[in-house]
Amino acid sequence: MKVLVVGGGGREHAIVWKLSQSPKIDRIYCAPGNPGIAELAECVSISISDIEKLAEFAKKEQIELTFVGPEEPLLHGIVNHFKQQGLTIFGPTREAALIEGSKAFAKELMMKYRIPTAKYASFTNYEEALAYVRTTGAPIVIKADGLAAGKGVVVAQTVTEAEEALKTMMEEAAFGSAGARVVVEEFLEGEEMTLLAFVDGTTVKPMVPAQDHKPVYNGDQGPNTGGMGTYAPLPQVNPSMVERIVREIVEPTAKAMVEEGRSFEGILYTGLMLTREGPKVIEYNARFGDPETQVVLPLLETDLLDIFIAGLSKGLENMEVKWKDKSAVCVVMSSAGYPGPYDKGNVIQGLDQISYPTIVFHAGTTKKDGELISYGGRVLGITSIGDTLQEARDLAYGAIEKISFEGAHYRTDIGSKALR
Ligand code: AMP
Ligand code: GLY
Repeated sequence: MKVLVVGGGGREHAIVWKLSQSPKIDRIYCAPGNPGIAELAECVSISISDIEKLAEFAKKEQIELTFVGPEEPLLHGIVNHFKQQGLTIFGPTREAALIEGSKAFAKELMMKYRIPTAKYASFTNYEEALAYVRTTGAPIVIKADGLAAGKGVVVAQTVTEAEEALKTMMEEAAFGSAGARVVVEEFLEGEEMTLLAFVDGTTVKPMVPAQDHKPVYNGDQGPNTGGMGTYAPLPQVNPSMVERIVREIVEPTAKAMVEEGRSFEGILYTGLMLTREGPKVIEYNARFGDPETQVVLPLLETDLLDIFIAGLSKGLENMEVKWKDKSAVCVVMSSAGYPGPYDKGNVIQGLDQISYPTIVFHAGTTKKDGELISYGGRVLGITSIGDTLQEARDLAYGAIEKISFEGAHYRTDIGSKALR
């Protein structure tokens, strides 16, 4: 088969890496890809936003299956367009991807179908939002309704912080139209986790649970990023909790989407807080997580292509999805300045010294004059697989010492919470 993967970050590198192990695939294309992906697939320079060009390419090259990494093309209807053109693509339609595209839609869905989540109110009027946070007090969470590259969420510890967040989003429109509407949410306390699942409408096949580390510095200090590192599975979360989440949250969500005429097919990301009252949803995404994918897919035993094919024909129910009895840790190396304005163009060294069970997933790299250089905020994701979490962690941090580029920074406590 010929397969096309859309995207060019660490998540897509992990997807391509896993697909490249499928004996059924002769050729993988990736648009636009990156230098790491280029070692496994043929990169084509088409932007993820150019849905029509991507479809033309898929037709011309007779691509038999397309899979999309990032949310943007999904929200803009890449799946709708490919299907209209008679192309095979596994992922949610624009209508189904709204579960990620609008936090207000997701909240209303959860309320209607009694899916446990934080209490909330949503506002388009700045004065009303201000009045509301003054009555609730802090801590309180303020979220821009639309997409804001993972940065539209403020966990305010004081009412003043909450007021400032509302001002930035609603008055100063820091996130453009994404902040025209805000969701103000009850602060949830507990262990945070991500549960990814393959979904074909009504059948849900969960992946291994993972945990992201969003704040930029050790001990969860500093501003939020796209994710500084992940590990999977979570020793502190037992399998019965995962079953409970599937039964009480993920399956009801899939059924609710079918009920609403927005049947979800693809990868459903559920971000959860394990509170004292039970698991509650923080957010949904309509795609694989980044960098969760970089620890989840290396633990997948089953052929990923087989799962996609089963998902396309609503055959997930009879598909056995197997996982390795191992642990994975991914540590993200980022550029000086990230998550603020960051440095680019620094030469990356040492990758030739790394080998399996450590994998270097490229996130923000490019080639210049034959040299590999940093190009994004998050540059590399160093994933190691071990028999235990401790072993995987030791391997990942051991590997990082061999890799360098100027100004590189990373957290040194990825996964350590679970070992205490
Ligand atoms: P989100 O973009 O919705 O995933 O939010 C970013 C981060 O903010 C999450 O990963 C949580 O750590 C935190 N967060 C979001 N909503 C809540 C909430 N209701 N209670 C506590 N923390 C939250
Ligand atoms: N790691 C968080 C996300 O992919 O949204």
